[in-house]
Amino acid sequence: MTAPTDALTGNLRFLRALVAHPKSIGALVPSSRALGRAIARQIDPGHPGPVLELGPGTGVLTQAVLERGIAPGRLTLVEFDPDMADFLTGHFAGVDVIEGDAFDLARTLEPKAREPFSAIISGIPLLNFPMARRRIFMEGVCRLLAAGAPLIQFSYGMHAPVVPPPGYSVVRAAMVWANLPPARVWVYRKI
Ligand SMILES: C[S@@+](CC[C@H](N)C(=O)[O-])C[C@H]1O[C@@H](n2cnc3c(N)ncnc32)[C@H](O)[C@@H]1O
Repeated sequence: MTAPTDALTGNLRFLRALVAHPKSIGALVPSSRALGRAIARQIDPGHPGPVLELGPGTGVLTQAVLERGIAPGRLTLVEFDPDMADFLTGHFAGVDVIEGDAFDLARTLEPKAREPFSAIISGIPLLNFPMARRRIFMEGVCRLLAAGAPLIQFSYGMHAPVVPPPGYSVVRAAMVWANLPPARVWVYRKI
């Protein structure tokens, strides 16, 4: 369980990043543990292979994914904000933390050769980006998914933040009221 002081430092770190670059943070506070659990439930821990998280921030979703039973060595995080990336490195032993751009994954994930991911989680605030950028993001991410694997994206909007690329479907997997603001969990998959 997260200690109150950890939650407070996480919130302050989040607030500092929000002031520095509001568009890429896109929320007033980190996601709730309830949202973390709703996202982690979409992952089948028995399905082998690496798992990728984009925009982990202070690691609320990361913690939920680990609690779901994904071993730290299976998990790679891509975070843009250097302060948060440093924090994640110190906080999650054995997890691979990359400071980089989730919109340019081919470059960010180099030079390691990687097998397709068995799940990808995204906390990137897609609604803050123009539709053309969202599509580029989604196409880049879908290229990295193993057959049948989920891309799990949360958003604060009524509709999926981007239409699935050709050959993919999207469903609303959960509505989480216990989050500020309430959030929807979207799961994209190859048809
Ligand atoms: C809405 S916050 C979500 C943080 C965390 N996943 C949560 O749910 O509490 C968005 C996060 O995405 C990161 N981010 C935004 N744009 C990014 C990009 N292009 N590449 C990697 N991370 C990015 C931000 O720095 C921030 O940590």
